[in-house]
Amino acid sequence: MTVQTSSNEPDPGSPAPNRELLSLAPFRQGKAAVAGFDKPIKLSANESHLGPSPAAIAAFRESAQSLANYPDGAQTQLRSAIAATFALPAENIVCGNGSDELLQLLIRGYLRPGDQIVFSRYSFAMAMVHATAQGATLVIADEPQLRPDANEILAAVNKKTRMVLLASPNNPVGQYIAADELWRLHRELPPDVLLVVDSAYADYVVAPDYECGAALVAASSNTVMTRTFSKLYGLAGARIGWCYAPSNVVDMLQRIRTPFNASTEAMAAAAAAVLDVQYSAHVRDYNARELQRIAAAVRANFAGVEFIPSFANFYLLRFDNDRHTAAGAAAALEQRGIIPRPVGAGGPDRCLRITVGLTAENDAVLAVLSDYLRSG
Ligand SMILES: Cc1ncc(COP(=O)(O)O)c(C=O)c1O
Repeated sequence: MTVQTSSNEPDPGSPAPNRELLSLAPFRQGKAAVAGFDKPIKLSANESHLGPSPAAIAAFRESAQSLANYPDGAQTQLRSAIAATFALPAENIVCGNGSDELLQLLIRGYLRPGDQIVFSRYSFAMAMVHATAQGATLVIADEPQLRPDANEILAAVNKKTRMVLLASPNNPVGQYIAADELWRLHRELPPDVLLVVDSAYADYVVAPDYECGAALVAASSNTVMTRTFSKLYGLAGARIGWCYAPSNVVDMLQRIRTPFNASTEAMAAAAAAVLDVQYSAHVRDYNARELQRIAAAVRANFAGVEFIPSFANFYLLRFDNDRHTAAGAAAALEQRGIIPRPVGAGGPDRCLRITVGLTAENDAVLAVLSDYLRSG
């Protein structure tokens, strides 16, 4: 099979895809390989290096017994497990093939070609791809403080706006919009605009003024919160996410969702994972401790490098001098078998994003950066 990737214009005489797709480039996954290293330290995709709960692995294995059967299209067991853990009504939960699929379904369900969607700047890149493919007009609201900004979003909304999408914590920064600002944003949005709060990193946040969006969903008919099992729960490979939505939105999702969009194994593993609240707390505490430790080390030892505060399982380093750059630091890390994620065009300047790994992996990052900053 050949995969066609880069041509922007279809060959004359062959089937032409929808024109809005021609501006898109295939999604670039966090790099996973580096020459000369069999097992590089991959810190490019915000995966959990602690892995899933042992209960989730056991449930995944056990589910192999029923591989011959279709999954439960009603997603009953997983929706009940999520509902029990987060004290939410199970009938307002819908699961999907990663939160990515749920974002795509929401975009398909609420946007027609020519409608406007406002994205807060540091949102999930694939959601922008889905909106472009839908023929929507994308408007980007800036994040001057490196977090979603209610005023910027509201200023971008006009009569054509059908949806507002923000990630909180955002990516690649790891910062969130404070609860009172999120409520104000919602209050000042027209009621026929759907507010989608992508809370993929919510499970990591330890902060009293954080609101993942669930309270707004409970209080309105125009807010949806999306969540994932790919991050804190360590199930990125299983492809499973969920959303909490008002009944009018659930009704739409059930009309267009394919019945078996979540596999038996993924749902079994996710149900066990979300019920293992002790393990989740362990991962959350570990991540918060490591972030603090890394921040302290960078601030104490690395002149000209800024550690930008993060509440997610990754952090951004900004390189503020000309001799030592984000690209130079990325190259130095890769030479030692460590793969960070350079921040591309559209992200904050001069920054490198690095996933929180195991303690020894984080120490290895700090040691390589220390050498790099002392060089040349
Ligand atoms: C902000 C944000 N939202 C959503 C996702 C999608 O996650 P998944 O489709 O694995 O649930 C990601 C993945 O990296 C993300 O960073």
